[in-house]
Amino acid sequence: MEIKKESFGQTADGTPVHLYTLTNDRGLEVKITNYGGIIVSVITPDRAGKPGDVTLGFDTLAEYVEKSPYFGCITGRFANRIAQGKFTLNGVEYTLPQNNGPNSLHGGLKGFDKVVWSAQEFENDRGVGLTLTYLSPDGEEGYPGNLSVTVVYTLTNDNELKLDYAATTDQPTVVNLTNHAYFNLAGTGDILGHELLLKADKITPIDDTLIPTGDLRSVAGTPLDFRQPTAVGARIEQDDEQLRLAGGYDHNFVLDNLDGKLVLAARVKEPTTGRVLEVYTTEPGIQFYSGNFLDGTITGKGGTVFHKRTGFCLETQHYPDSPNQPSFPSTALNPGEKYSQTTIFKFSTVL
Ligand code: GLA
Repeated sequence: MEIKKESFGQTADGTPVHLYTLTNDRGLEVKITNYGGIIVSVITPDRAGKPGDVTLGFDTLAEYVEKSPYFGCITGRFANRIAQGKFTLNGVEYTLPQNNGPNSLHGGLKGFDKVVWSAQEFENDRGVGLTLTYLSPDGEEGYPGNLSVTVVYTLTNDNELKLDYAATTDQPTVVNLTNHAYFNLAGTGDILGHELLLKADKITPIDDTLIPTGDLRSVAGTPLDFRQPTAVGARIEQDDEQLRLAGGYDHNFVLDNLDGKLVLAARVKEPTTGRVLEVYTTEPGIQFYSGNFLDGTITGKGGTVFHKRTGFCLETQHYPDSPNQPSFPSTALNPGEKYSQTTIFKFSTVL
């Protein structure tokens, strides 16, 4: 196992950025940059042993800075949407940038995906990895409290990429962290043939700005039922109100996991290559996004054009708009408490 560090250029203000290559003994290679904590590539063998990159991304830092639709990044301070860019905590109203229609998305104009994190490589008996830290100052993007954040990426010889997130604050605030990797286990084409299992009986249905209504709705009898492995494309064009509102899948699936145990949330199998991705998490929700906003206007690694539904995201997280939804599990963090979440992306193949 090894970890290698090289330059990935610098940001506009001259801050140097690095690219780290983590390799395990079984042919898995993961590239991560400390700009946004972005997973730049994941190269895994297919069932015949042929390596291929299974994530969407760019070759250069400049492209991530200019035009990334959140490829591979850490999203925060609050992943997904906060309605109308406002929330009230302990009687105080906070105002956030409205960067997605009327709502605030993925931490605002300059979220954790667009900052340079401090990075430290390590090697231990579990694997090789990178510890990223960032101090988000009080008032950044409208959020209260100095938030000290650590994200540890570990690559193991079990072909797991493990993400351990932690945060503490000096004032009451809200936190919801995730990684926004877009996967395509075939490495090319659309993701409609990928077979998805999602261990969720319910979703948080959304309105026409993709904000949860506050209800929980059973997936039974709907195209959002992935309790048995089903091709992503099998029902995506069905006449269904929730699919219509989001233009495909872009929903928070409720995991039966309110006590924070590490559970299997999703398994995706790509039949032509045999590649399998399993997602384990301690979080109560997972946003399944089928890449509906990709529209062929962005080109990335090796000239790949990102057409609609050429990548999917499985973002393990608390439910969108939780700060405005008293019935959802709380995303508040107080001084003296520790936020933590663990997610594992595990790669394998089947015949
Ligand atoms: C999340 C959201 C989507 C979209 C993507 C980024 O998955 O739920 O609606 O904003 O991020 O494009």
